[in-house]
Amino acid sequence: MRSFRPNKIASKMIVAYHRSELPRLNGSIGFVPTMGALHEGHASLIRTSVSRGHQTVVSIYVNPTQFAPNEDFTKYPRTLEADLQTARECGAHVVYVPSSEEIYPRPDISVSLSGSLSERWEASVRPTHFSGVATVVLKLLNIVRADEAFFGQKDLQQCQVIETMIDLLFLNTKMVVCPTVREADGLAMSSRNRYLTDTQREIAPRLHEALVGCELNIKSDMHVERALEIASAKLIEVGFNIDYFSMVELPSMEPRLSVTNLNSKLALITAAALGNTRLLDNVVW
Ligand code: PAF
Repeated sequence: MRSFRPNKIASKMIVAYHRSELPRLNGSIGFVPTMGALHEGHASLIRTSVSRGHQTVVSIYVNPTQFAPNEDFTKYPRTLEADLQTARECGAHVVYVPSSEEIYPRPDISVSLSGSLSERWEASVRPTHFSGVATVVLKLLNIVRADEAFFGQKDLQQCQVIETMIDLLFLNTKMVVCPTVREADGLAMSSRNRYLTDTQREIAPRLHEALVGCELNIKSDMHVERALEIASAKLIEVGFNIDYFSMVELPSMEPRLSVTNLNSKLALITAAALGNTRLLDNVVW
């Protein structure tokens, strides 16, 4: 690896297209893996890493193995110039933009997952998705060797899968889950929000509203099943096609229909589509 003097790193963000170009960083390293199309959610992860005193590496790589053949891999937004600008403004020290030849020189090895975390919720709709995510994240963590890696809570099941992988494969990076960043009307920020038509964009914040309403109902002692039914019905009424709207226990993400006798955190999780655009969101308490 090439070596850079720290003052050069502080004054100038480095863009590396191959892992051999990554600088040797002094001090602690923070890592923000992304697929680009950076928005305020990613920006907050980068800023959080920088504010914790890390030399911060951001990766931008649209990972083909986490997309099913019928999904939006080819049309996934690719906005490299704007992303580099965002990363620079947020204080990133290095942006790593690998090619598929580098990340997948041979298809021989991937991370396979078992157990309910890899079968339920997102995995029931996208069966190969988390294996692709875990594989690329493992490779990136091995390349960057960060002290801490930053992920957004919006992708709650992804966070649980990666946390489990870090734990069970004895990886040396600590995972930091950061709060979901929202638009002023409550819609969780996502690179895919740009697919929404104007009408769908107006409806989209109802997803978060439904989660918050449901949480309040459950906290006011409404039976969980009834609260879930009410929230789902509201979403269907305004045009959502719901994949799931459920209450789960964390970190297992096992479904729960009661709040009694629990020592763990609870979350309401949902995935629902407006037209062809699937939106994910959750609330945790
Ligand atoms: O959350 C994402 O953007 C992706 O799933 C990740 C973690 C960068 C892996 O490709």
